Amino acid sequence: MKKQRFTWNEMTVGVCYYPEHWDESLWESDLDRMLESGIAVIRIAEFAWSLFERTEGVFTFDFFDRFLNLCILKGMKVIFGTPTATPPAWLTEKYPEVLNTDKNGVPMRHGLRRHYNYNAPVYHEKTRIIVEKLAEHYGNHPAIIGWQIDNEFNCETNDFYSEADHAAFRAFLQKRYGTLDALNAAWGTVFWSQTYTEWDQIHAPRPTTNGSINPHLHLDYIRFISDSAITYCGIQEEILRKYIRPGMFITTNGMFGHLNNHCMTDECLDLYTYDSYPNFAFMLDRTGKLDKLRDRWSSKSLTEVRSICPHFGVMEQQGGPGGWYNRMEAPTPRPGQLKLWAMQSVAHGADFISFFRWRTCTFGTEIYWHGILNYDNRDNRRLAEVREFVSDLKKLQPLCGANSVASFAIVRDYDNVWDAEIDSVHRMIHNQSENAIFEASQLYHTPCDMLYLHANTTLEDLTRYPALFMPHASIMTQERADLLEGYVKQGGKLIVGCRTGYKDEYGRCIMLPMPGLLQKLTGTDITDFTFTSPAEDTPCAEWDGESFAMPVYNDVMLPLEGTQVLAKFKSSYYAGEAALTEHTYGEGCVLHLAGAFTVESTRRILAHLELLEPMRQLAAAPENVELVMREKNGQRWLLALNYQDVPVTVELKKPMVSMLSGHVGDGAITLPPYSAEVWKV
Ligand code: GAL
Repeated sequence: MKKQRFTWNEMTVGVCYYPEHWDESLWESDLDRMLESGIAVIRIAEFAWSLFERTEGVFTFDFFDRFLNLCILKGMKVIFGTPTATPPAWLTEKYPEVLNTDKNGVPMRHGLRRHYNYNAPVYHEKTRIIVEKLAEHYGNHPAIIGWQIDNEFNCETNDFYSEADHAAFRAFLQKRYGTLDALNAAWGTVFWSQTYTEWDQIHAPRPTTNGSINPHLHLDYIRFISDSAITYCGIQEEILRKYIRPGMFITTNGMFGHLNNHCMTDECLDLYTYDSYPNFAFMLDRTGKLDKLRDRWSSKSLTEVRSICPHFGVMEQQGGPGGWYNRMEAPTPRPGQLKLWAMQSVAHGADFISFFRWRTCTFGTEIYWHGILNYDNRDNRRLAEVREFVSDLKKLQPLCGANSVASFAIVRDYDNVWDAEIDSVHRMIHNQSENAIFEASQLYHTPCDMLYLHANTTLEDLTRYPALFMPHASIMTQERADLLEGYVKQGGKLIVGCRTGYKDEYGRCIMLPMPGLLQKLTGTDITDFTFTSPAEDTPCAEWDGESFAMPVYNDVMLPLEGTQVLAKFKSSYYAGEAALTEHTYGEGCVLHLAGAFTVESTRRILAHLELLEPMRQLAAAPENVELVMREKNGQRWLLALNYQDVPVTVELKKPMVSMLSGHVGDGAITLPPYSAEVWKV
């Protein structure tokens, strides 16, 4: 399935370092202090283009040569970044066509980063030259263990509207559709006289009367952006492969929108790395209060990262408070939190954790984006925590390369992820349900994975899970329907929600009763549907005498022959109609919920399917603790993470040895505030 070509032999700690930000007299003591603290790898150079090519075509390497020689001397390992996220001023002044623009065609000028576009031929040329020069020079460097391509594709913006993008969009569409007739049909351009008669009339989105555009064009535009980023990444990868020593890996970092990260990883990378800033994950609930999970939402992103690359790295692990010179974003990590968040990454499958950054920069945009050290460069509590983390990690080495054990998977595909971005109905039900399902999995200690369906997904990828939640796949293709059918037939449990299966791959609605291609599996027929009115109470359903909410959108659902009704609506004009059904198909079954999921409906469904709390024979933990299970060669480990500022009690149901303290734990165990424990099962 995934082509991960690199795995870590041991769990490793790193840090991001910018030699160009500091006086050279600091280099040696910085490297010494890092190594003394257990930091074995640094990432460098990803924004340093103008140090290598200060004027066009003139290349100098002395600065990084000097620094890398010191790394050899000290025994520091290096991940080297290609600097293409920050084109130098001479480049964008001389070749303004490399700049990204806004929808109005106004260029994004020099002064920040990621202001280039993926499609300008001259940017491809300049990229090839700088990457080739660097790879030629450093491809066999003894200190370098891996390469990071660019920095955070699609961060800052994931929309591109330059002239080069309009032209490349046309080429993308010509390849996809062949003829204008096919494109006009796919996009339904007969609606409002949008028919195209020449390819040149087609553009990436531009301003319209009220900002809305043809939704089918929009969906193809996002696919095109993803394709452009992957092609651009591939240009760099191809060059690096020619020069780098065998054993060096190629990666990139971050996880951003309008990008099929799975495809990029499979096609171009040996390893995927993520940038984890759990403080960003704070979310407000509908009443404006912080919700229950807060920084535990980062576990959802890490779960997604695991679906891209099971044994990933974290290239940037939050090392301090965050903010730019013009905004404050994340408060300082409380004592214990920094280490806890690093353990959160480890719990979810990271074998490499690199903190961002060694020391806070004293100038520039990110003066408030703190690293481990403050401007004053003294040892501080954050460095002490990094040291503790390093010492904990040494004890956790047996977990390197261990797999996560999940009770079910949340199923996604990029067509639906992007359709949900465009279509507000889809977006609302998707966000409500996916977050509720994840929250239930967290609160009720029923770990889940994420599973993306691709053209190359096999039945075996699905059958690893006893149950799959695919909450609202509006777009359903025959291939995916066949895959799901195979899964259910052999005994899988599939759970779907309202608004399933009513669109084709272009995002057009199909003229079949919902849930369209899945009707045979669900054994249901949607005869009517409605958005739930904010002016009325949220509709409820009843299951075995207990009520649960059916928010956002409701389908009025007819059970077909052989389909059992588990719950019925209690309110609205469809009171008494089926709200949740179960249909046996082959060896498996399909549950169909006629609404969006809530934490409560998910909990009840998991209980019904006997999947709830799979670790209950080992431990009982309160809702505010995350429990994770990892497994390698038949050995299992139980991890418990306390995200609260108060101690919590976990009740061990059998004696287990703590990997961290070496003590045997049994019965009530107190986890201090912001801490983690790992037991050998
Ligand atoms: C990341 C980025 C880093 C740094 C950090 C803090 O998104 O890769 O270069 O900018 O955020 O803003």
